[in-house]
Amino acid sequence: MVELKEQVYKIVVYYGNFIDTPKLGALRVRESCALGVSFASDKDSGTIVFIKEGSKDPLKDALEYDPSVTLRDIKVFDLTDPTGQRFMFPGFIDTHIHSSQYPNCGIFGNSTLLDWLETYTFPLEASLNDLEIANTVYSKVIERTLKCGTTTAVYYTTIDTESAKLMGTLCSKLGQRALVGKVCMDQNGPEYYVESTKDSLDGCKDMVSFFENDLNDDKVLPILTPRFAPTCSRELLHDLGTLASQKDLHVQTHLSENTAEISWVKSLFPECSSYTDVYNQAGLLSRKTVLAHCIHLSEDEEDLIKTTGSGISHCPVSNSSLTSGECRVRHLLEKDISIGLGSDVSGGYSPSILVAARHAHLTSRHLAMKCSNEKEKDNTKLSVAECLYLGTMGGASVIDLQDRIGSFEVGKQFDAQLINLSTADSNVDIFEWQRLGDLRKFNNITQPPKINIDGIISKWFFNGDDRNVQCTWVAGHMVNSRQELF
Ligand code: GUN
Ligand code: FE
Repeated sequence: MVELKEQVYKIVVYYGNFIDTPKLGALRVRESCALGVSFASDKDSGTIVFIKEGSKDPLKDALEYDPSVTLRDIKVFDLTDPTGQRFMFPGFIDTHIHSSQYPNCGIFGNSTLLDWLETYTFPLEASLNDLEIANTVYSKVIERTLKCGTTTAVYYTTIDTESAKLMGTLCSKLGQRALVGKVCMDQNGPEYYVESTKDSLDGCKDMVSFFENDLNDDKVLPILTPRFAPTCSRELLHDLGTLASQKDLHVQTHLSENTAEISWVKSLFPECSSYTDVYNQAGLLSRKTVLAHCIHLSEDEEDLIKTTGSGISHCPVSNSSLTSGECRVRHLLEKDISIGLGSDVSGGYSPSILVAARHAHLTSRHLAMKCSNEKEKDNTKLSVAECLYLGTMGGASVIDLQDRIGSFEVGKQFDAQLINLSTADSNVDIFEWQRLGDLRKFNNITQPPKINIDGIISKWFFNGDDRNVQCTWVAGHMVNSRQELF
């Protein structure tokens, strides 16, 4: 059951335009669509139970779906908009974000990865062992990302186990779907920010037990988080790999972000054939593993990632900000490797996945400018629809939740954002004479050009921001609202 304004409903129906990207490159538009979300039992709470495109009567659709419910059990939200400026889109999935680094957004000077860690990042993370500060920072990150339409986030916290537990508790309380990890680092950290191998492993076990037994929210899961190979001993990496396979846990780490980092890994792990092989030998690569960055991989490393089914978090804002490089997204997609987007706050300066998607689009064009062959140049570029796929369905497959989130399908959870381009403070201007037309019909240049739904989506993609996120839902529950629905 869901309670809305004192009322209890078994089915909530959203009626309007639904847009998603179930497959790479394809934008699916379902107009006048009735989408029913069930709250009838705990088991299917927040699940999409019917989708009817071209619906004339959403209430009738709900009654047809379940004839046993009464009118009082059903709530319909009419979100139809003849101007096409309001639509439902799946919630964004941020596959790589450091909640503990949020206060440093925008602060990175002229640094690159290794000096950035020493100068900006380790001191901030260490300061969050004050749980009062951590509480303020983490609450703000969750609130901010929900406002930006992020319904699922894969978080790093700090080396402090209590801070990871706090983050999980706050995600559960504020309603965000999340994977949350305690950072593991037992070597090469500054004296004030490093732990013993035993403390690191024990902390992870404690965190996992807390999530499983105390928190008990199936939307908030633990994720093992070896920071990156240079700050983890062989022993710690192996122990974490063993724990991951014993308990079938999610894993996240950084891989192949910066050339100095790669040389360092080579010197620290001479017995491994590559940086990726360090994680492979430790048993850390599985379908539930998220590898952030993956910019400078060899063919062998790509093949290893493909074979193990691990996913890649592409973090283009961070990769430009820290001058790390450009991930070859098209090349990796053609190898059938799962890829999603990460904000990588605060290597990345923005908590918004829309900003990351926009930057992925531009990064692909920078890669294209380096191609000598015209066909390859064209192929390297990612389209708007492809970047939106990375921010939703792509992210879902990276965390092995492709059957639960990422698009609007019967049986999936209702994790969504209501986009409204015509809010009073919207940054997107669509002129009246531009609307309701099909560009392809207009070849008379004296007519002002009209834009179709692809144009509307493009305008949102490049000029939109959190002011266009009217509401956000996770598992059918409204977790953010800038404007009352009615
Ligand atoms: N490599 C190791 N730690 C980090 C981190 O906090 N951020 C990024 N972007 N890369 C890392
Ligand atoms: Fe990172």
